[in-house]
Amino acid sequence: MEQFKNTIIVTGGAGFIGSHLVKRLVKRYPETRIVNVDALTYAGNLENLTEVEAEPNYVFVKADICDEEAMTRLFREYEADGVIHLAAESHVDRSITDPLAFVRTNVLGTITLLQAAQQYWESLPEGYEGKKFHHVSTDEVYGALEPGDGLFMETTRYNPHSPYSSSKASSDHFVRAWHDTYGMPTVVTNCSNNYGPNQFPEKLIPLFINNIRHRRPLPVYGKGENVRDWLFVGDHAEALDLVFHKGEAGETYNIGGNNEWRNIDLVKALIKAVDAELGNPEGASLDLITYVTDRKGHDLRYAIDASKIERELGWTPATDFEEGLRKTVRWYLDNPEWLEHVTSGAYADYYRRMYGNR
Ligand code: NAD
Ligand code: TYD
Repeated sequence: MEQFKNTIIVTGGAGFIGSHLVKRLVKRYPETRIVNVDALTYAGNLENLTEVEAEPNYVFVKADICDEEAMTRLFREYEADGVIHLAAESHVDRSITDPLAFVRTNVLGTITLLQAAQQYWESLPEGYEGKKFHHVSTDEVYGALEPGDGLFMETTRYNPHSPYSSSKASSDHFVRAWHDTYGMPTVVTNCSNNYGPNQFPEKLIPLFINNIRHRRPLPVYGKGENVRDWLFVGDHAEALDLVFHKGEAGETYNIGGNNEWRNIDLVKALIKAVDAELGNPEGASLDLITYVTDRKGHDLRYAIDASKIERELGWTPATDFEEGLRKTVRWYLDNPEWLEHVTSGAYADYYRRMYGNR
């Protein structure tokens, strides 16, 4: 068997952000074994990882993070030194119709993983020395801002509203509890909305690119006045790599794009980008905008102050939004078979329930 200097478990590595992170880690750290643990739910797709699947330092394990026995075995078998935990139910609309799935994976799954890490690391002679448990979380735990309210800081009081953000807030608290109670070296990152290739087409940007391509309606919730802070997924992966390797145990780091957009303005920018790539006249797809009933409990505005990670670890978002959006649009238009694969099967049923036969 190959000898590796150390081993990092990445959970949820077949998903959107996880796959970008796994590809980055496998390529950057050839002496580190990267173990991707994923249950392959509707959101997990191994096609996201074809470019690293043959690498000697990459391992895939299909497992559910709620499976206590499997998680315990995993740590011993791979002698894991670190965990970057991304596996989660991640879509707010699904959390409104099926909250228990979110409690199961996001809360119970995180605790199961914490216990497995604790059991293994406490059994070693060096204990927690050189170990790290990194929980990848969201800015949605802080609640919602009004337009003039400033930005979310690491010190902002938790005030989640949706079942999704409540489950992530809960798991953040449990991760900190393992630091404060057992002395586990943990870090938490809270990031704003990501966009980029390989995002499941239930989230705003990939859903709308796909709908424009097929000339389907673009369902804008409410008046389209909600604001999100968008970050290119590759920049998030870079920040996660940095925090995992250099972040201080017990700390929280906010990650954001410094890039706030009202949904309706973003949709118009997206239409412009897709029409340009398709060779349509400018504005050709504007007629697809369809205002629909608002999401229940729809948070008005999220916006991150990412000055701590910049000051302490030297990270800033590198990708210009126009360029990131263009790259993303190009990727979806160039990969119709990826969309075809992920929208068949389990997702197709959900898609039909949400959007009918459009
Ligand atoms: P995603 O839905 O694309 O991927 C989630 C992955 O987790 C999938 O591969 C899925 O198969 C896996 N998974 C789900 N339940 C599992 C279980 N019980 N056991 C093992 N694997 C399981 O999600 P994403 O958008 O890549 O988000 C990844 C993480 O980042 C999540 O924790 C999310 O809360 C957080 N986050 C996401 C965003 C964003 O904009 N997407 C922003 C901030 C934070
Ligand atoms: P989404 O991508 O689901 O991310 P989040 O809810 O985690 O921010 O949604 C981004 C924004 O776009 C959010 O304000 C909800 C809105 N939205 C729509 O208006 N229509 C849609 O079909 C979707 C999926 C989202």
